[in-house]
Amino acid sequence: MNASGGWERLEPKLAATQRRVQALEWEPDRRNSFVAYTVERDSAYADLDGRRLLMMSGYSYLGLAGDERVVAAAKAAVDLYGTGNHGVRALAGSIPLHEELEAEVARFADREASMVFGSGYAANTGTVGGLVGPGDTVFIDKYDHASIVDGCRLSGATVTRFRHNDVDHLERRLRAASPDGVRLVIVDSVYSMDGDIAPLPELRKVCDEHNALLMVDEAHALGVIGATGRGIEEHFDWQARVDVKLGTLSKAIPSMGGWVAGPAELIGHLRYAARPFLFSAALGPAQAAAALESLRILQREPERVAHIQHQSARLRKIINAEGLRTQDSETAVLPLIAGSDDAAYDLATTCRKNGVIGLPVVTPAVPNDLARLRIAVTARHTEADIDFAAQAFLTSARECGILPA
Ligand SMILES: Cc1ncc(COP(=O)(O)O)c(C=O)c1O
Repeated sequence: MNASGGWERLEPKLAATQRRVQALEWEPDRRNSFVAYTVERDSAYADLDGRRLLMMSGYSYLGLAGDERVVAAAKAAVDLYGTGNHGVRALAGSIPLHEELEAEVARFADREASMVFGSGYAANTGTVGGLVGPGDTVFIDKYDHASIVDGCRLSGATVTRFRHNDVDHLERRLRAASPDGVRLVIVDSVYSMDGDIAPLPELRKVCDEHNALLMVDEAHALGVIGATGRGIEEHFDWQARVDVKLGTLSKAIPSMGGWVAGPAELIGHLRYAARPFLFSAALGPAQAAAALESLRILQREPERVAHIQHQSARLRKIINAEGLRTQDSETAVLPLIAGSDDAAYDLATTCRKNGVIGLPVVTPAVPNDLARLRIAVTARHTEADIDFAAQAFLTSARECGILPA
């Protein structure tokens, strides 16, 4: 690398990253980050170096990623519109497909209006930044997704964290906060690393008592919880409502993009105030069409949601019975707790040897000594796949000393 003074000053940062990666991935077999898997289009399996492995860490909850109807919709959109939209939505970037998709998202979310961003990350940063600024206060759960945290930082609002899923702690924070300005409480409906669910009715009550708005990120809930996959409100039998509802189009919906839904006046405001929407190119035609078709399939085929719920409960039951911990998971996300970062890498590497891909999540993404494999059950997993995965996890945990041999 060029030895100029500018590069020398950067060097400690580059070296620290390299040291950290090498400490975990010191030989090719232990490589778990940025591995390119050739995923089979119509199954839960992936090819790695000529071996067929069961993918247990993918996000395509509804199993629609290779669905021929979704692929056909994307191809038709490319035929009609080409590969890009060549601009931001406010200027030349909008196509009728965006409006159709936004109407479908709003209908699905049971809201007056919605708008679609280029990613879920942009949806969170843009929405938070469009709602609050200096003089306002945001209250976030300690385990909220990084895109919410980054949105808060960029917004310039005062940011207060409360303990994970602890509504009493949130209430104390609300009491102690400035009485002025907008008060916005933000939670994930399903926590991406733990698979547990936010206590919506209690959160709603506390927000009402303290004049706060409630925003919920449904990234891991859409298509997964609630009888028809409509997320946290349906999960709690519609006993409580959310003020600002947000999600991605990159997980259960096998595309790219993010959305926010709410009252028409709110969306009308965000279309001009959310900077990642206003200053970043519009969602591509293929991605918009794939998302639209998938949302329609989800509504026609709710049995996919039931399958995910049933099979994730089965997997949890089998491995918990043998002593393998999954924290408070009650959804399709199951954290297999290994302990140290090193232990999580050992477990992932051993699982792969035993035929299953379970990818490690390490600090700082998760607390110290709670490094884990983040497992996700999808509608593509058959009952036999789940049984195979359960035995592979148990065997691997025994081989790694996480469970007694
Ligand atoms: C809870 C949550 N919100 C938002 C995002 C960002 O979504 P996207 O990947 O579509 O940018 C993620 C992605 O992992 C997530 O887990």
